[in-house]
Amino acid sequence: MFEIIPVRAFSDNYIWTLIKDDEVTVVDPGDSGPVKEFLKDKALNLKNILITHHHFDHTGGIEDLSRNFNCTVYGPKGDHINGIDKTLVEGDRFEISNVTFNVLATPGHTLDHLSFFTNNSQPLLFSGDTLFFGGCGRLFEGTPEQMFQSLSKLSMLSKETQVFCGHEYTESNLNFAAEVEPLNQELNNQLNEVRNLRKEDQITLPSSIAMELSVNPFMRCEENDVIMAAQEYSKREVSQPDEVLEVIRNWKDNF
Ligand SMILES: [Fe+2]
Repeated sequence: MFEIIPVRAFSDNYIWTLIKDDEVTVVDPGDSGPVKEFLKDKALNLKNILITHHHFDHTGGIEDLSRNFNCTVYGPKGDHINGIDKTLVEGDRFEISNVTFNVLATPGHTLDHLSFFTNNSQPLLFSGDTLFFGGCGRLFEGTPEQMFQSLSKLSMLSKETQVFCGHEYTESNLNFAAEVEPLNQELNNQLNEVRNLRKEDQITLPSSIAMELSVNPFMRCEENDVIMAAQEYSKREVSQPDEVLEVIRNWKDNF
């Protein structure tokens, strides 16, 4: 089992640290400073870095960490991110601390976006800026169709999979979700819990696939209530799930 600890960076990023047998892996180190502090406190060395996509708030620390530690950097293929040692595409697998990590291409937020999941006794998903607790990433590079396909892929992972995303956006995501589905009781309960956590500046993560399927409107584009809300907002007939996603993504961008 990994011990998984969040390291905060910038205003709302989480750099996930995975520790097993004194081997440390970090996911999306946008800033090296907080990671170095964390490792120093724990007297540990960095062994691996996983990168989900090219945005600077997820990659900015690679160079400095690679200079200071003898570590391997895994990330999307293409030469657009400096410092990647092992380039990955959909379907690739690699081992860390005797645990197999599977690579899923999840384009939409960016075209290069990858998500990592482990499917052993401790199912974990590192979803970067694709799937957030209660939301999804903005469509900077991909299409609604791509994001819909990416989220569909994630929705098929086992329900108990713990979901570790890149940002603390949960409260604003669930506020929006409640606007889309005001009658979703599980969503309203979760929103109350999240508001209480955030009042104390507590982390709301990880989530789970089961939770996302229940509360996240972007994972619920085939649910009648979400379709009806999308139609009401756009004032037109919306039938395909990727169109539903497009409408609610646009709605959230203006919320
Ligand atoms: Fe991003």
